[in-house]
Amino acid sequence: SMEAGPLSPLSSPPQVVLTQDELKKIAAYKAVEFVQSGMVLGLGTGSTAKHAVDRIADLLRKGKLKNIIGIPTSKKTHQQALSLGIPLSDLDSHPIVDLAIDGADEVDSDLNLVKGRGGSLLREKMIESACKKFVVIVDESKLVSHIGANGAMPVEIVPFCWKFTQERLQQLFDYASCMAKLRTNSGGNGEPFVTDNGNYIVDLYFKKDIGDLRAASDAILRLAGVVEHGMFLGMATTVIVAGELGVTIKNK
Ligand code: 5RP
Repeated sequence: SMEAGPLSPLSSPPQVVLTQDELKKIAAYKAVEFVQSGMVLGLGTGSTAKHAVDRIADLLRKGKLKNIIGIPTSKKTHQQALSLGIPLSDLDSHPIVDLAIDGADEVDSDLNLVKGRGGSLLREKMIESACKKFVVIVDESKLVSHIGANGAMPVEIVPFCWKFTQERLQQLFDYASCMAKLRTNSGGNGEPFVTDNGNYIVDLYFKKDIGDLRAASDAILRLAGVVEHGMFLGMATTVIVAGELGVTIKNK
């Protein structure tokens, strides 16, 4: 086999480029600095929040945190936290949550969010509306000027006559500005994606700004078949953004 030759001379020092997952981890670890012993903690869902849950378990194991109670926002996070030995509870037993840490799909400059591309929006919204502090962790790719313009805005609906509800959602926004599409399982069997709550998701793909977010939220929630949507308006108290140039903390 050949020996590696000497490295060719570089005109500038090598740059360390962090991967998106490394940025997510940096944001997550920063958020866990807000956690104190004795807290009831909302545990988020997704690849960013997963790092936060790992970190919390780490600090518990090392004895640097004590008496934490975790409230998981999905079955997946419940499984992760359980396997890591984090004591768990729910909103029935702990209706007041001290702090929640979770990722997001989009964040605007007013700290409004789109969440739920992972499908866990309902439990996330229930838990994150019940918390005193809600810290959102993202890499810089999630920052947008207007939420809802860069991909799906998920709406959780009951399975009963889902086509009817999808059509009602479509009628709220004209075809030129929005497409309402039932989410199916990735893998392509065409079966509807089913949430932790046994519901379906209709993804709204906006082709332009949603405009008045509150008005859109109210109109969506007024439809009888709708359970919840993925716009989290005015809920985040802090957003931690990890980018190539460092970490930025934005407070409401
Ligand atoms: C799940 C969510 C997630 O927080 C969101 O999809 C971000 O995920 P990731 O951290 O994997 O990018 O809302 O319902």
